[in-house]
Amino acid sequence: MSAAFRPATDEDVVPIIDLWTRAGLVVPHNDPARDIAFARSVDNAEVLVAVETDRMVAAGMVGHDGHRGWVYYIGVDPDHGGRGLGRALMSACEAWLSGRGVPKAQLMIRDTNTPVRDFYSRLGWTEEPRIVMSKRLEDGLPIGLGTVETTVTSLEIAARPTRVAKHAPSGVRLSLMRAAPPSVGFYRWLYEEVGRDWVWVSRRLISDEALREIIEDPLVEIYVLYLDGTPAGFGEIDRRKGPSSVELAYFGLMPHAIGRGVGRYFIDAMVDLAWMKETERLWVHTCDLDHPRALGMYQRAGFRPFEQYTETLPDPRLAGLPLPIRGHADAAVIPMRPSTVTQLHPKT
Ligand SMILES: CC(C)(COP(=O)(O)OP(=O)(O)OC[C@H]1O[C@@H](n2cnc3c(N)ncnc32)[C@H](O)[C@@H]1OP(=O)(O)O)[C@@H](O)C(=O)NCCC(=O)NCCS
Repeated sequence: MSAAFRPATDEDVVPIIDLWTRAGLVVPHNDPARDIAFARSVDNAEVLVAVETDRMVAAGMVGHDGHRGWVYYIGVDPDHGGRGLGRALMSACEAWLSGRGVPKAQLMIRDTNTPVRDFYSRLGWTEEPRIVMSKRLEDGLPIGLGTVETTVTSLEIAARPTRVAKHAPSGVRLSLMRAAPPSVGFYRWLYEEVGRDWVWVSRRLISDEALREIIEDPLVEIYVLYLDGTPAGFGEIDRRKGPSSVELAYFGLMPHAIGRGVGRYFIDAMVDLAWMKETERLWVHTCDLDHPRALGMYQRAGFRPFEQYTETLPDPRLAGLPLPIRGHADAAVIPMRPSTVTQLHPKT
């Protein structure tokens, strides 16, 4: 077996966590996203991975403390076990340590996983009679991958707006330009800048290929708002479901543009761009993790709420984001008009 191991990249983080989860290495008191980020941020540790035909098949963590070497999270994709990948991964970790002059390496096996000691024995590791003691040096908050529940409100505009669109505030240089299409890297940057504080995770967790397919679709229009010549937000119009279900799929300002009075101009401009000759209905959704003023802003722009549902999001830490802080004090929840309640498929 001659698997090639290399240090993990940003794109590897989600597949690594998936692999480790399926290999049974992720337990409630560990946070693999944070562990990976920490190991990758220091000089004396590394996460090593092997990828075969676009699929991650083995991943492990190696590091040293200035005295001994350690390996952690040694995992092989269960579909690829027994092919020598575990041995190759351990060789790569040992080589990484030897290359840094580390004379001896150690590892710990959970007492629920004692059968794996035979794997290490075959690789020349020996058991030593030691007692391992540990102490958590953090606040002890419960960590472990889970999900986040949000309340989503969907709103719609069902007829061509007749109002006069809001002008840009005076003294602010604004321009709105379609990125047709943006590169994956630029799109990810826009999405992360706008969504970081609002737990926008879904697009962080999809591959470049899947993202490219969406943003390069001619029925998906991405507009970038520039404030004084610098990107300040973006809006995304998705026409893939036809003129009766045009969606303002994403809309938001970057932190430096919030509070400058540009939101209302931007939303009116996006509604007008979405409202082409054939458009019959435009809808948008917002959740209780979005900016507390988002719901009211959409309503002032003419959107009417028509549906509310609970959506379960993946743990934001999978995407390198912190857990959300709940309870926006000034969140305005305006009741739906019951007569217009319809069911749409929740967006994922
Ligand atoms: C343990 C693990 C990494 C082994 O990976 P693998 O790719 O299946 O192992 P390999 O094919 O490289 O096997 C290497 C050698 O170990 C032996 N071996 C592998 N798993 C074994 C096991 N569970 N028990 C006994 N021997 C084992 C193999 O027979 C092989 O022996 P040989 O080369 O002398 O013929 C993999 O099963 C795994 O990811 N397990 C779940 C996660 C885990 O428990 N990690 C360790 C945490 S401490």
